[in-house]
Amino acid sequence: MSVRPPWLTRLLDRTADQGGPGTRSLVALASAITDIKNPKVMTALAPSAVRGFLLRRGKTQEQARIRSSHAAVLDWSYPREEPVLARLYTKALKNQWIGDELPWATSVDLQSTEVALLPPDFIDTSMLEAEGIRLTKKEELQFRNDVLAWLLSQFLHGEQGALLAATQVTEAVPGHDAKLYGATQIFDEARHVEVFLRYLETKLEKKYEINDNLFTIIDALMSDGRWDMKFLGMQIMVEGLALGAFSMLYKMSEEPLLRQLLRRVIQDEARHVHFGVVSLRQHFKEELSEAERIEREDWALEVALLMRDRFLAGEVYEEWFEGRLPWTKWREIVERSPGLRTFRQTMFRRLVPNLREIGLLSPRVRARYDEAGLLGYARGAAADSLDDGALLNDLAAGPVT
Ligand SMILES: [Fe+2]
Ligand SMILES: [Fe+2]
Repeated sequence: MSVRPPWLTRLLDRTADQGGPGTRSLVALASAITDIKNPKVMTALAPSAVRGFLLRRGKTQEQARIRSSHAAVLDWSYPREEPVLARLYTKALKNQWIGDELPWATSVDLQSTEVALLPPDFIDTSMLEAEGIRLTKKEELQFRNDVLAWLLSQFLHGEQGALLAATQVTEAVPGHDAKLYGATQIFDEARHVEVFLRYLETKLEKKYEINDNLFTIIDALMSDGRWDMKFLGMQIMVEGLALGAFSMLYKMSEEPLLRQLLRRVIQDEARHVHFGVVSLRQHFKEELSEAERIEREDWALEVALLMRDRFLAGEVYEEWFEGRLPWTKWREIVERSPGLRTFRQTMFRRLVPNLREIGLLSPRVRARYDEAGLLGYARGAAADSLDDGALLNDLAAGPVT
């Protein structure tokens, strides 16, 4: 699948094993750049990759300032031309909820062996033992809690990106119904930031920095001046993956407060992805040239692989195993652990059908999705055909394999 020659992969792996976090970030940059085939996609993603992987802007500064160049569109004719979006707007207004109303009094026992925050096989610690790292029962529990804190921290940072991207999209999208709907999404994302932050601060009492890959993707979609790229990046890619990730965590965790929180967030996110599919389907099929469509198709593919192949909990590795375990071994453990493997695959369960629905899964790229093990999801239901009931039934079902 990779366009990289094997000798370069070996060199990058050796470099990553011998260096610290900064070196691994450089290796990630080199890997990202050598993997991208489409020069236009390379040009679009490279500045964000430099800021994310080389300058590590998500980690070296408390605040990131991302310059955007989109045009804000005002329309004095207030056209009511999108009945599906108008219905989605009403539905969003009716389904608003207050974060404070979640059962925050629920006691979350971090030492409990009865109520699993994450399943024991989420990261298989027996594979660590094979590398000479033995964790006590207490350490193992702490390790799993940290992995959950890492995951929820990335959800939190993604939600902050979604809050700001939703404001940009609301400015930049043409169409009155889309703007009204977009305003409800801004509120939804604010609430998601609020509840994930509160859970991390008051229940897990721990928060991780943003992952360089996630920073790069957020930076790329927020700095791109084209409204449909913001839409594709946030509404389809990040939100689609998040919906799959939230659903999987909802199924895997036994902690009741977290499950309620996720259930409410999932219902909101389903509307957001629906908005993305409805808005982009027609635009991509009717208003783009073939060259423009191809650029978006390749951009989506690269972002999908960036998320799938490199979302490896590096921050947890640095805290627990840096200097004790080579990076490439950690990567192998993460990739082979049953829970996390299912989790990473299932993230794509909601995304791939939506890419198909908006016309970004042409025969030209299907082979690369197939090689990445993701084409099996292509026949699934897209967001516009999954209402709340269908989505919750879907949550009750097992993962598609
Ligand atoms: Fe959200
Ligand atoms: Fe969202």
